[in-house]
Amino acid sequence: MTPELPHAQLDWDDQGRPRSRVFDDVYFSSESGLDETRHVFIEQNRLRERFAALPAGGRFVIGETGFGTGLNFLCAWQLFQQQAPADARLHFVSVEKYPLSHADLQRALALWPELTALVQDLLKHYVAVHGGFQRITLEGGRVTLTLLIGDALEQLPQLDAQIDAWFLDGFAPAKNPDMWTPELFAELARLAAPGSTISTFTSTGWVRRLLNAAGFKMKRTPGIGHKWEVLRGEFLGWPEEAPTPARIKPWFARPALQAKTALVIGGGLAGCASAASLAARGWQVQLLERHSQLAEEASGNPQGVLYLKLSAHGTALSQMILSGFGYTRRQLEHLQRGVDWDGCGVLQLAFNTKEAERQAQLAEAFPADLLHVLDQPAAQARAGIGLEHGGLFYPEGGWVHPPALCQWQASHPQIRVLTHRNALELRRVEQQWQAWDGEQMLACAAVVILAGAAEIKRFPASAELPLKRIRGQITRLPQTEQSQSLATVVCAEGYVAPPRLGEHTLGASFDFKSEDLTPTAAEHAGNLEMLREISNDLLQRLNAEHLPLEQLQGRAAFRCTSPDYLPIVGPLADQAAFAETYAALGKDARQVPDQPCPWLDGLYINSGHGSRGLITAPLSGELLAAWLENEPLPLPRSVAEACHPNRFALRRLIRGKA
Ligand SMILES: Cc1cc2nc3c(=O)[nH]c(=O)nc-3n(C[C@H](O)[C@H](O)[C@H](O)COP(=O)(O)OP(=O)(O)OC[C@H]3O[C@@H](n4cnc5c(N)ncnc54)[C@H](O)[C@@H]3O)c2cc1C
Ligand SMILES: C[S@@+](CC[C@H](N)C(=O)[O-])C[C@H]1O[C@@H](n2cnc3c(N)ncnc32)[C@H](O)[C@@H]1O
Repeated sequence: MTPELPHAQLDWDDQGRPRSRVFDDVYFSSESGLDETRHVFIEQNRLRERFAALPAGGRFVIGETGFGTGLNFLCAWQLFQQQAPADARLHFVSVEKYPLSHADLQRALALWPELTALVQDLLKHYVAVHGGFQRITLEGGRVTLTLLIGDALEQLPQLDAQIDAWFLDGFAPAKNPDMWTPELFAELARLAAPGSTISTFTSTGWVRRLLNAAGFKMKRTPGIGHKWEVLRGEFLGWPEEAPTPARIKPWFARPALQAKTALVIGGGLAGCASAASLAARGWQVQLLERHSQLAEEASGNPQGVLYLKLSAHGTALSQMILSGFGYTRRQLEHLQRGVDWDGCGVLQLAFNTKEAERQAQLAEAFPADLLHVLDQPAAQARAGIGLEHGGLFYPEGGWVHPPALCQWQASHPQIRVLTHRNALELRRVEQQWQAWDGEQMLACAAVVILAGAAEIKRFPASAELPLKRIRGQITRLPQTEQSQSLATVVCAEGYVAPPRLGEHTLGASFDFKSEDLTPTAAEHAGNLEMLREISNDLLQRLNAEHLPLEQLQGRAAFRCTSPDYLPIVGPLADQAAFAETYAALGKDARQVPDQPCPWLDGLYINSGHGSRGLITAPLSGELLAAWLENEPLPLPRSVAEACHPNRFALRRLIRGKA
């Protein structure tokens, strides 16, 4: 379960420097934090030379314990800008138990005028940083910051990455003995790439000895300022006497691939996000969409809600939602507020006892800046309309115009959008995937990403995936003078959003049977009923009862849902060969046969986003790119596995239904 993580509690000295109350220690040296960071972390890891020596399109991964004020990150980023080839990429993974609040981060970083431009960029995207994995994309993807919010000893074991250089920070060992442990050092070793280096500001003997025992070769080296000596080291290899870390199961292993061209089929949120994440990594992408424009199906609603349906029990889905919400929320900073999106907050009403109980549990489990309970008067004041209930308020939530997000994602110069292309068949020819429409080849590339929601079942390779279509209809209601007081999204069974371009979106019906996408008056009536449950006052303000149902405007589309409500993201295997290769699992589910997974080389999926594609699809683009580029995963490995396409074939085998 994601524990409630308070922000760092700080005191400030007379020169504006922060000090931790919990650890009674400073974030950086009293003389010059910049010089110390550069000496201890940048120089001892030889980053200047290593950045300069990166090949074109190369990548460097830094890991850190204790993000703190981000000073080490900013110094590394600045040096990367100066030294690395223009198309190289920096990936910085940092774990932090007590993240600074935005205001404190701003205050602390104001001390370094020479970093101002980078600081501004970081602050702009330092929003919705909650527990677990939080990915922040900077400089159009040249720099990726993955913050693991939580205790290092809980977070690092969930990380799947290969770290080229470790910054071992995290307050003095004497002040923070819980962190400086053999378990932590074993994690640093597990995650170390071949040739990985490490440095730390302390030269304490037992730290050096424990790091040596974990497989690093540590050396004392002259320090700076009042630090007489510091430590630097190299990773020699996993110590023979230590038990080897658990092996990744072959069906969740990373398929080997050397390619930088992709064909993405489907121009909704999933396809556009996949294309954007690959283009940011230097890929050439062709994005195929059967309609005349992007986002014409499920992703085509005028307003979708950025709403987090969390669990207090830290399930894989809940972790995905928290990470995905943060990622989408930061992406929205690139769009135009008020037209493309608005961070007006989301109020989920406690419309019955069960819902009120669920909300109370969530309020216990999560910090108040993510969600908090409002009683009826407070909820009413916040929403700007009459309400019968209080509820749970998500101050960072809001609404999004999904087509705007799709357009922005697809606007990368390395993405070619090809509309009016209906891919009916896939062919594998000479290490390439070709998409065909009858007699015409539409496009070809080394990798194909199926992002056509439930339509991906038309291709034999993905026909077995258990995706269901659920029709949904929204109603567009013209704003009135009185309805403009609505200040947040309000949800009960349905949702209603503050006006965008003169109209409120009211949603959404669920129909598990209908295959027809013509909007119906009956479903408009159902949506109005949901509005009445949300707020009879708003219903009156919108004059909605008196609008003739036949004249109501709206649209219908299919959601695409998986049985466990998690999206399906990752590489796909040949189903028959999979069942044969791992047949032994049918007899003993604990077996891990040593055979590699029979991947369909270069075939990937991004689908199954159900009712929350705004939250899950953008981060799924990053997950897909991480599988393809052998990069640090943007989610805990267990969550990435819970989203893996192979999970269904695996479950079938284990239940003996293959
Ligand atoms: C009524 C309704 C309300 C919703 N409300 C919300 C909400 O409030 N918040 C939220 O987060 N989510 C909401 N959702 C869910 C969200 O819209 C979806 O999860 C999301 O849009 C899915 O994106 P996608 O790219 O997977 O699918 P889609 O947007 O359906 O995109 C798939 C695209 O692939 C194209 N395609 C398919 N097959 C082919 C092919 N063979 N060749 C070429 N092109 C192809 C299609 O034309 C389509 O454009 C709602 C959905 C509905 C229907
Ligand atoms: C000295 S500060 C780091 C300075 C930081 N690298 C910078 O550039 O500003 C130490 C940080 O480690 C964090 N920390 C301490 N113990 C931790 C733990 N067990 N897990 C994760 N973070 C921890 C603290 O909250 C604090 O932010």
